[in-house]
Amino acid sequence: MDKKKFYITTPIYYINDVPHIGHTCTTVAADIVARYHRQKAEEVFFLTGTDEHGEKVAEAAAKEGLSPKDFCDRIAPRFEEAWKGLNISFDYFIRTTDPRHEKVVQEFIQRIYDRGDIYKDRYEGWYCTGCERFYTESELVDGKCPLHPNLPVERKSEENWFFKLSKYQTKLIELLEDPNTNYAFPESKRSEILAKLKSGIKDLSISREKVKWGIPVPWDPEHTIYVWFDALINYYSATQFLSGKEDFWPADFHLIAKDILWFHTVIWQAMLLSAGAALPKAVYTHSFYMIDGQKMSKSLGNVISPQQLVDLFGVDGTRFLIARSFPFDGDSDVGIGKFKERYNADLANNLGNLVSRVAKLSEGVVHSAPEIKENEEIREYIENFRFDEALNTVFKKYIDQTNDLLNKSEPWKLPKESQERQGVLGKCINNLLAAANYLTAFMPETAEKIEKVFVGAIKPLDKPLFPRIA
Ligand code: MSP
Repeated sequence: MDKKKFYITTPIYYINDVPHIGHTCTTVAADIVARYHRQKAEEVFFLTGTDEHGEKVAEAAAKEGLSPKDFCDRIAPRFEEAWKGLNISFDYFIRTTDPRHEKVVQEFIQRIYDRGDIYKDRYEGWYCTGCERFYTESELVDGKCPLHPNLPVERKSEENWFFKLSKYQTKLIELLEDPNTNYAFPESKRSEILAKLKSGIKDLSISREKVKWGIPVPWDPEHTIYVWFDALINYYSATQFLSGKEDFWPADFHLIAKDILWFHTVIWQAMLLSAGAALPKAVYTHSFYMIDGQKMSKSLGNVISPQQLVDLFGVDGTRFLIARSFPFDGDSDVGIGKFKERYNADLANNLGNLVSRVAKLSEGVVHSAPEIKENEEIREYIENFRFDEALNTVFKKYIDQTNDLLNKSEPWKLPKESQERQGVLGKCINNLLAAANYLTAFMPETAEKIEKVFVGAIKPLDKPLFPRIA
């Protein structure tokens, strides 16, 4: 029988920035879900990559005295390496400057044009290069972009090609209101987007004459395709230009944060409807990390890089901390201080210490792998992106209980060969192996180490799994 297919994506990150904890948050979350589905023996396709066209990238390249392409070629590997350094099991890293992607984008937009959904008009509005989008006067806050108050917005008036987004308003409302769909998940995002959709929706300018760094509009090559139009198609294009991946479309999950909700739940769905392609099954939107109560920004100097975290907490430590503080539905306040506390409490003093105690007490025992029954509660939590709750449950059920059992029954006081001692330790080991099973998606290397220690002839650890951090 064919394996069940599962396709998950992250946003493709703007190449003018370098990887930070915000990108890490979404990428680690997608990796946890991808690994979890692989553990269930599904055939997984996990896509991430970089968004490389548009004004913002051209400007960043010019600042460095590089051509946009050279600039992109220099930065893209930094994302790819950051993800490899976090043991992210992506199957493909897409770059929108890949000619194979560009070809699919041109075919896609041509389909929409042939359908009669694209027309020419004059546009006047305020453009924010931070967001790569136009704002109307009333959307600005004190004359500035609501998301980038430090960047000037630019008044632009040009002839552009427009996509008939408004044509899809009714259909989109219908889809979003259908309780059986997950086009916008969780519920708070569904109602937010529905309210915005109902309050009116304008057609979208999808080409730029003055921006040269982009994919040419096939029927009017003086214009380049709007960077968001090009970027969204990545999710689809990868399944078309990579061999044997066609069946992965439609995606099971697009994972994004709240800043790009409108693009993924309205614009992307309308583009697909117009092009006659299937719609993704779900878009899950998480909230933001705040750093010590503040928005993360270069000017505040509070940006945390994935490497900084790995240097301090190791790969699995970082993955755990990201998952444990995941902003499921509401911003989550993080910071190095908070991370250290949690790492020491949960990983160094609790899990790590417990594994080394049990291994030491069980030295010489030969243990075989128990059968592990699926825990429904944990499964639900992971499938709904409640990583905090999933980890909480694993810790309560398998780790805290094992600590209690050890402390109550004090097996170290019992003779080595006694059945009672072996019984207690056997239970502890089985709990730890169950914990390892559930932690596999979160901390793959740690889970493997635990399995290695406790299956077969047990030897004490030669070094702590999670050394304490001062
Ligand atoms: N290039 C577009 C996406 C195109 S997808 C077809 C883009 N790139 S971005 O580099 O700005 O990445 C935005 C995404 O990064 C967010 O949606 C989120 O996944 C992640 N995050 C950026 N800052 C974040 C936080 N402070 N907290 C959590 N995640 C955040 O938008």
